[in-house]
Amino acid sequence: MSQAASQAVKLRVVVLISGSGSNLQALIDGVAGGDLPIEIAAVISNRPEVMGLTRASKAGIPTLVLDHKNFASREAFDIELMRTIDAYTPGLVVLAGFMRILTPAFTEHYLGRMLNIHPSLLPKFQGLHTHQRAIDAGETHHGVSVHFVTAELDGGPVIVQARVPVLSNDDAGLLAKRVQKQEHVIYPLAVKWFAEGKLKMTNGKTELDGELLAENGYQIEANDI
Ligand code: GAR
Repeated sequence: MSQAASQAVKLRVVVLISGSGSNLQALIDGVAGGDLPIEIAAVISNRPEVMGLTRASKAGIPTLVLDHKNFASREAFDIELMRTIDAYTPGLVVLAGFMRILTPAFTEHYLGRMLNIHPSLLPKFQGLHTHQRAIDAGETHHGVSVHFVTAELDGGPVIVQARVPVLSNDDAGLLAKRVQKQEHVIYPLAVKWFAEGKLKMTNGKTELDGELLAENGYQIEANDI
């Protein structure tokens, strides 16, 4: 295939961020390394001046800030966000540390074509402060999940999880670091599966390579701690 033809078939992805953008960086690196057959069409942040915007600019990706504080309601923000995203005609929307609760109209609009990464072994520890909560609960293992986004917060079908051990001297920061290392492995992997047409959401479940996955999705055990 000519270079022009291979570029033409690349999945267009819009990435939404709120902060540091290390997961965005993992996607950028995957594209640069030739492992990820996508084009990151735009990066949109709901917070100005975050590190993720700098990362995107450095990679030559168009960036936009849509500050939620400038909107009177969650609904009004989400409507404008949808309009902004759709101007880039993405085949996939990737939430990479996008710390917003989404309206049902928004999640419905992108159903089956929007992914999120959440730092816990879902369905455990939905919501915030997952690392501290895992330590407090005495978990022996913790980890990260990539899932399709549905109207239920952190509740959509899980695609892939990576597990890491919780060590006796862990605090939330140490554990977060161990988990984040795995985030940067499994998010590019899930996006790659989607781009290759191997991954879809079928009747509220994850279908990978033609098989419906169990509730916890595809399991990856992290060996290097
Ligand atoms: C990541 O650890 C991600 O799992 C988490 O935010 C962080 C963003 O980091 N997401 C959530 O908690 C979503 N509920 P990043 O900006 O460096 O990618």
